[in-house]
Amino acid sequence: MTGVSRRTVLGGAVAGAAVVAGQANTPAAVAGPVGPAGDRPVSPRLGGAPLLCEPYLLDPGRSSVYVVWHTEAPGTRHVVLVGAAVPGMTDQQALNAATGGHGPAGGWRSFPAQTSQLKRTREDTASAVPNRAYTAVVDRHVYRHVARVTGLPAGRTPYRVVSVDHRDRATVTAAYTLAPAVPRGQRTRLLLTSDHQLKAMVPANLEKVAATVGVALDGVLVAGDLVNVPDRASEWFDSTSGLAFFAGLTGRGQRTIAGRTYRGAPIAQHSPLYCAIGNHEVMGRWSDTAGLDSQFNDPQPRWVAEQLWDQTRPPGEDRERWLAELSWDTTTYEQMLPYPRSREGGPRWWSRTIGDVHVITLFVTGIWRSASPNGRGKFQEAADHLQDPQRWGYGQFIFEPVKRDSAQYRWLERELSTPDARGARYRVVMYHHPGHGLGDNSAPPFTDPVQTIHRDPATQAITAVTYDYPLADDHILRDLEPLFSEAGVNLVHNGHSHLWNRFRNAAGVHWLETSNVGNSYGAYDISSGASRNLPADPDHVRQGDPGGLQPIVPTVAPLTDAAGRPLPYVASNDITVFSVLDSAAGVVSSYRFDTRLPDSDVVLFDEFALA
Ligand SMILES: [Fe+2]
Ligand SMILES: [Fe+2]
Repeated sequence: MTGVSRRTVLGGAVAGAAVVAGQANTPAAVAGPVGPAGDRPVSPRLGGAPLLCEPYLLDPGRSSVYVVWHTEAPGTRHVVLVGAAVPGMTDQQALNAATGGHGPAGGWRSFPAQTSQLKRTREDTASAVPNRAYTAVVDRHVYRHVARVTGLPAGRTPYRVVSVDHRDRATVTAAYTLAPAVPRGQRTRLLLTSDHQLKAMVPANLEKVAATVGVALDGVLVAGDLVNVPDRASEWFDSTSGLAFFAGLTGRGQRTIAGRTYRGAPIAQHSPLYCAIGNHEVMGRWSDTAGLDSQFNDPQPRWVAEQLWDQTRPPGEDRERWLAELSWDTTTYEQMLPYPRSREGGPRWWSRTIGDVHVITLFVTGIWRSASPNGRGKFQEAADHLQDPQRWGYGQFIFEPVKRDSAQYRWLERELSTPDARGARYRVVMYHHPGHGLGDNSAPPFTDPVQTIHRDPATQAITAVTYDYPLADDHILRDLEPLFSEAGVNLVHNGHSHLWNRFRNAAGVHWLETSNVGNSYGAYDISSGASRNLPADPDHVRQGDPGGLQPIVPTVAPLTDAAGRPLPYVASNDITVFSVLDSAAGVVSSYRFDTRLPDSDVVLFDEFALA
């Protein structure tokens, strides 16, 4: 039927540790006993390998925050030490405190982590892992450790992670800081970013973020496309490219441009990540043998898998898992970023109030396919696959419905009317796909592909399968934008086209894409002269915003064209961009840095008021 073989190695309990994969967990805090001076070595000993990634923060609450890190072995003990005394501890004192309670007297508490194995992390021949080469797709064992730190006072508190492996060797991290959520109504500073995807300028970008606004922010809002192939573990942690997602965001990246080596910055250790799912967080159909790039590019719509389930009723299978393996899957993303989450959407869509900003995050993205007139693509199936629907791509289909009357849309409608949303000073909606934009991916429209099966009138044999995307049925423009306008949404933060541009609709909703972080895929506008590579069709807008808004020229220092005219976008593989929402000032500020000139200043080039 499908050619997909199944395996049973996924997941599994870790000896001596609770398994919390994919679910919320609330381990109890353990108060650190007061002990003697704490210099006395106890087993285990120091000398463990570096963690797969330095710890990162998720989902601060009123007096709590999650600390997450990963290792390649399950280990035996994983602890977060928290308190004013923690930075002053020697590594040995920290280890003693974490394992035996023999730390310095007072000023610290310890919180044990719960450990689970990631279910789908793998490597393959295209992986770039230090000192390893792969000749086929193989599992890469990754163990996630999650500690919920509770009882936090306002403001920042130091912490360190202590992780002990199976040979009793311990790794003790440097000291970082964590904090509970910004209290409701108070000012907040949020970094707006997306589309890191192991692109070359990301470490430089993050270094300049840290130099401009520091590493202790109230949140990092990532509008999707964190990596390229989500089940490839090294893209998150230790790719030899120096560009893995957590490497850059923890200051462990490495990329040299114009003679300057950039490492990123320790942002994720100090600032909670708030992420949305992009198309690059979605794996396609499972295979034991095909390369990971191929699996990534091979999703089918869930309704196709459901039809197959109804026809075959495979015995002994878990329906949800079977459907995910036969359509598409976001397990790795959800395990990397299990929080925030909502009852209805889990980590796929959720809302949080961060200070005086109410953030709503949606799962709005579809598979990206080529616009080429040949092969499996946006507009047609491959000519040599016409008789085999198992090999069809079903066009550029949407993963999770968000159109009118879908479960996600109904949740959004309710969410926008809650006191939390209405009462916040600002409302921000984050998701991946552009609603208004000059980028390549703003066309064809974001809608369900309309399939036409063409047949030979004489033989009824299929001669072509084509897809259309009616602009009038764009789900963002038709269904979401009116909701945003009605509810007083201040800002929509999206990604996907790898450029900077912004818009404002008649109701005052701002739309910002600030995804020219690591690279660009160009701007398609009368001001650039470039046209999207799409067949001529009234539904295919080849220049400008298909949603009909005029792009806004940056207010402070726009780039200019060869004739000196200001450009309403940044689309560059040399200039990297980031944006910061500062609710105290009520503005979003965008900055650019020219990596060709490593000694040049970061330039504030655009600023606009949210209200
Ligand atoms: Fe992207
Ligand atoms: Fe994308």
